[in-house]
Amino acid sequence: MKSKNSNSLPADMYLFDSPKTLQNPLLQHRENASHLHPSTPGKAKMERNNHFGDVQSRSYNFFFVLCVSLFILMAGAYMLRGENSSVEKKFRDVRETENAIPEMWRSQAWQKSVRQSCHVKRDDGFVVLVTGAAGFVGSHVAKALKKRGDGVVGLDNFNNYYDPSLKRARQSLLDKAGVFVIEGDINDAILLKELFDMIPFTHVMHLAAQAGVRYALENPGSYVHSNIAGLVTLLEQCRKANPQPAFVWASSSSVYGLNTKVPFAESDRTDQPASLYAATKKAGEEFVHTYNHIYGLSITGLRFFTVYGPYGRPDMAYFSFTQNILAGKPITIYQGAGKADLARDFTFIDDIVKGCVASLDTAEKSTGTGGKKRGPAQLRTFNLGNTSPVTVPTLVSILEKHLKVKAKKNFVKMPRNGDVPFTHANVTLARNELGYNPTTDLTSGLKKFVKWYQTYYEVATS
Ligand SMILES: NC(=O)c1ccc[n+]([C@@H]2O[C@H](COP(=O)([O-])OP(=O)(O)OC[C@H]3O[C@@H](n4cnc5c(N)ncnc54)[C@H](O)[C@@H]3O)[C@@H](O)[C@H]2O)c1
Repeated sequence: MKSKNSNSLPADMYLFDSPKTLQNPLLQHRENASHLHPSTPGKAKMERNNHFGDVQSRSYNFFFVLCVSLFILMAGAYMLRGENSSVEKKFRDVRETENAIPEMWRSQAWQKSVRQSCHVKRDDGFVVLVTGAAGFVGSHVAKALKKRGDGVVGLDNFNNYYDPSLKRARQSLLDKAGVFVIEGDINDAILLKELFDMIPFTHVMHLAAQAGVRYALENPGSYVHSNIAGLVTLLEQCRKANPQPAFVWASSSSVYGLNTKVPFAESDRTDQPASLYAATKKAGEEFVHTYNHIYGLSITGLRFFTVYGPYGRPDMAYFSFTQNILAGKPITIYQGAGKADLARDFTFIDDIVKGCVASLDTAEKSTGTGGKKRGPAQLRTFNLGNTSPVTVPTLVSILEKHLKVKAKKNFVKMPRNGDVPFTHANVTLARNELGYNPTTDLTSGLKKFVKWYQTYYEVATS
């Protein structure tokens, strides 16, 4: 606006002698008065007119300036009106979307399922929203919480990053255990608001995410959608809630990235992510910090180390190795520099569940209400690992033993796909503050996984 106004007069001056100007009666007045303007910049014309001529040209000038000013004012008002109406439209759109709550959520049956699922059956029990409840870790945590008498409702978008039928199977297990899983996205602010208006959650166990390191090369947007935008949408709802829940969420050991100091401690460097997945988890750690700082949300971040077990994720090596070994297909085993074996601190799901539940149990209340911070709130980060890394060839030999089948192995140099050569957790902090104590070694954990796998996929046991 401003620049348009300030340009208008000089522009008119440049057009002064054009045919257009001469057709414009307004500007013709200016043409008549042109003798008052310097014909050469910096040179003033001598006044030639008599008193009356001077008065007449001044009144023309005045009339001209008045008309131009009026024109500018009217144009400005029109444009402002336009801007306002587009802002109004945006608000109207938001209001209309807010009103567009799906019929299902308004249905009594849906609301009854949510309320029943959130029913607490123990003294001082929690009411927990578990996001990613149809996922591997989420389904196990939701079941454990329900079993001890907490109110639990799940939320999951059932995306097809891996076979959604496995997510449906976990959902039906949860259903039998009395946990209702809402099908929805953590980016859906309207759904979240509806849910938090209905249920005063004491805790949020946030496990929904786009997991997996290598898939980020193919679909980076899905990581931004779930791990960044989705996380912030959920945090926004939590900080507005009254009461504010305590927030426990899954970060990842991948934040240690290129860190070479072992075992990884929470205080080690996390500013060298090796994958986009790791970068989104690291970003998440920074986001939660601001919500803790500004709004008083109680936050606990858990850095999981390669979780495995029954109902696990098919995109993970132990799972796909099992599938391929049983199908007689070759498996690819990556090696690091100098053919060094890769190693992972494989952590059994039951140990992770204990760590998650202990985090909820020790989480202090958020200090804010309805978005206003009332005092400093708890902010914690814990490694949840097994503390004893195992090389990938050792993992394969354990699987061979349990499956009673020899693997066809292809050793390949690790491509630059976001994987890191090893992980190793220092869990001293979790041990001291959560009483976390991993007890399942890889051999016993994989035995349970293989047993589940063979039953679930009805694999004939030899
Ligand atoms: N499993 C591991 O080894 C491991 C290691 C480190 C960190 N983590 C983290 O732990 C959490 C759980 O991992 P997992 O192994 O159970 O993965 P998972 O993929 O099995 O579970 C995640 C669930 O979240 C859901 N989800 C994804 N985006 C969503 C969205 N926008 N809205 C609603 N639901 C959405 C998915 O459908 C899925 O069911 C994740 O945050 C993951 O990054 C896992």
